[in-house]
Amino acid sequence: MSVSIKSKSEIEKMRVAGRLTSEVLDYIAPFVTAGITTNELDKLCHDLIVDVQKGIPAPLNYAPGGHKPYPKSICSSVNHQICHGVPSDKALKNGDIVNLDITVIKDGYHGDSSRMFYVGEPSIQAKRLCEITYQSMWRGIRTVKAGSYLGDVGFAIQSFVEPMGYSVVREFCGHGIGAKFHEEPQVLHYGRPKTGLKLEAGMIFTIEPMINAGKKDIKQLGDGWTVVTKDHSLSAQFEHTILVTDTGYEVLTISDGCPAPNFG
Ligand code: MF3
Ligand code: CO
Ligand code: CO
Repeated sequence: MSVSIKSKSEIEKMRVAGRLTSEVLDYIAPFVTAGITTNELDKLCHDLIVDVQKGIPAPLNYAPGGHKPYPKSICSSVNHQICHGVPSDKALKNGDIVNLDITVIKDGYHGDSSRMFYVGEPSIQAKRLCEITYQSMWRGIRTVKAGSYLGDVGFAIQSFVEPMGYSVVREFCGHGIGAKFHEEPQVLHYGRPKTGLKLEAGMIFTIEPMINAGKKDIKQLGDGWTVVTKDHSLSAQFEHTILVTDTGYEVLTISDGCPAPNFG
């Protein structure tokens, strides 16, 4: 296993890509309302990335081993969809919770971030799942520093959400990121303290827990991409791209509109 240490100039490019990614989420937030289709959200984001940011939406035509090319520029995962939801002509409705996952390539480097959005007024249970998932991401992030371990990240997330009756999706994880969308290491959202990879300053990876209100089991839809909960329970996810530093971490996917840290 080889995990790259990014150079100063690579880190600077990752800061730019990360900020642009977060700015797409800021931009799209007010459009996430009842009646809009996820295809319309996809087009708005695509046009901002390509025409304004002069970047590339990494998901479009992305085809990792065994997958057919991803057909859209963003992922939109609604309610019981866990991740990789393919935008469609179906309209959002009041009470939906939706994850928008954005990956922008700028100057050859990737930023990757996702947030949950509320359509109108979701149920108290749906909002609580989103809040706990957000807090779990931050509990994972705050363990990051040179000399700590990836198992610390996973443990912080798992030990926070499981006592509440929620479950951690196992099949998908965070990942190293840089000139490539998905690099080593794999960042599991469950684990034991002081196990796994020892972190070094200059490593960059995502933390992106997928938390289900029900059981952890998943099902893959026939479109080859969309992943849903097997028991149809709601699922939530947040994602940031993180740089390891000597004293802690730097969140690269930040912007004026991104929600404040919350550790619960
Ligand atoms: N953005 C997702 C992640 O966080 C990956 C999406 S791959 C796609 O790793 F092809 F579905 F876009
Ligand atoms: Co990611
Ligand atoms: Co992502």
